Amino acid sequence: MVHQRADSRIEWWKCCSIYQIYPRSFQDSDGDGVGDLNGLLSRVDYLAWLGVGAVWLSPVCRSPMRDFGYDISDYTDVDPLFGTLADFDRLVEALHERNIKVILDVVPNHTSDQHSWFVKSRSSRDDPKRNWYVWADPGPHGGPPNNWLSRFGGSAWEWDARTEQYYYHAFLREQPDLNWHNPEVRSAFADVLRFWLRRDVDGFRVDASAVLAEDPLLRDEPPNPDFDSETPPPEKFNRVFTDARPETMSYIEEMRAVVEEFSDRALLGEVQGGIGRIGQFYDGERPRFHLPLNFLLLDTDWHAATLAAGIDQYINAIPDGAWPVWILGSHDKPRIASQLGLAQARIAAMLLFMLPGTPIFYAGDEIGMPNAMISSEDARDPFEALVPGYGLNRDPERAPMRWDSSEKAGFTTGEPWLPLGDHVEERNVASQQGDRRSLLSLYRQLIALRQTEPALVAGRFQPLRSERGVLLFERCSDDKRLLIALNTRDSSRTCPLQSAGALRLNTHLDRKDERVESQLHLRSNEGVVIEVLTSSA
Ligand code: NOJ
Repeated sequence: MVHQRADSRIEWWKCCSIYQIYPRSFQDSDGDGVGDLNGLLSRVDYLAWLGVGAVWLSPVCRSPMRDFGYDISDYTDVDPLFGTLADFDRLVEALHERNIKVILDVVPNHTSDQHSWFVKSRSSRDDPKRNWYVWADPGPHGGPPNNWLSRFGGSAWEWDARTEQYYYHAFLREQPDLNWHNPEVRSAFADVLRFWLRRDVDGFRVDASAVLAEDPLLRDEPPNPDFDSETPPPEKFNRVFTDARPETMSYIEEMRAVVEEFSDRALLGEVQGGIGRIGQFYDGERPRFHLPLNFLLLDTDWHAATLAAGIDQYINAIPDGAWPVWILGSHDKPRIASQLGLAQARIAAMLLFMLPGTPIFYAGDEIGMPNAMISSEDARDPFEALVPGYGLNRDPERAPMRWDSSEKAGFTTGEPWLPLGDHVEERNVASQQGDRRSLLSLYRQLIALRQTEPALVAGRFQPLRSERGVLLFERCSDDKRLLIALNTRDSSRTCPLQSAGALRLNTHLDRKDERVESQLHLRSNEGVVIEVLTSSA
């Protein structure tokens, strides 16, 4: 089924639904238990069937895989585990043939310690690449230069015995930070972007983009006043001098200028700091990201009133006229189906596609994939080993995609790199494609509704009072009003309606063409989209 674009004059990154793929876990083609590009190529028809307008691929560049591809040792080659550059080109072509855009994850903040730039940089203090990374002498009393902590545990400074200085790493010690204050680094990275733009990628998701620049004075971070025994140790200090620095904003603008050398490309940014900081990453007078990623739906308590407040805060935190974006899952966050349960996962899906702005979801969310249970001892994610005991292991959400109910779920013929997890029999693509009331069918219908209904893309967002656990809002264009009512509770609800309406879609997928008069009845965990019938209609 080819979905008609909602409005061809609106930029693609506003119209489309974006699907994040973690290539290691999507489809294996060679039996090594790890997903790859040819595997992904064999699934492009599924993506077209689902109706997504863009895929965001987690990194596929050459990497020693200490952080599963977020530690890059060659920015302009594909890791052999995933395939070749030719495979990549074929994949981009196949996706483009199906009108699906390609967004590649790029990692500008740090490289692998195996990258030739770092190998040179650490070879001698006089090497021309020395200043490409962040080197510093020991602090006044010996030891690290200051109190900065790695997000993955311990000091963010690693001693280099040969050259007798410390280097800075915001993440793993095998992920040294590039020195973005150095114009040579910025120019080299601009060439990396151009390399992929010439290979026809439509945009980038910029990893860890908020932490590109560090305070040149290396000032100590202040204590985190909310720190207690339950807070993971890396959060002991507030990241004032290493996060969202003013220089970072201008470096992002430089990246955006590079992207704009090519037509119709977009920049998505992973930005930290929650809603309070998100506005900084938007188009102001000086353009920054097209889509600064917003994780509110994953980080909020799941109650109608809290959701309504969070949505309101976010919409007010971004500049007037800025384009919102919502995320329902990622390779770094516990799965939504496990957080909320399957019934509310349907509500979450309806919310995602009905809110104003670009919806992003994570491969497997559409079939309700749960977190896979992986013990601490079996964890592959370095985060778990380095900061144990805080539930930070990200393996559960990285378990392989399930394509069918066979032993290896159609993911591989070999041993999957992570266990498949539970409920494979019913939570797999083939089973749900054959079930017209499945979660997968709901996702497909929601995507299609958003694609075909201009009020859902460019229409106004009108919040309504959300009471007794029902989240209520409208999306309106000049000639259409859609009322969205989402029951976040496990018991039925009745809401008074001001005008009659026609039911367009419900989360259970079992009510159709129903006319709703003055009362709207919602079963437990039910969400509906209603077209309001105005008197002239
Ligand atoms: C954010 C990525 O999403 C995460 O997976 C990674 O570990 C860090 N950045 C470091 O690159």
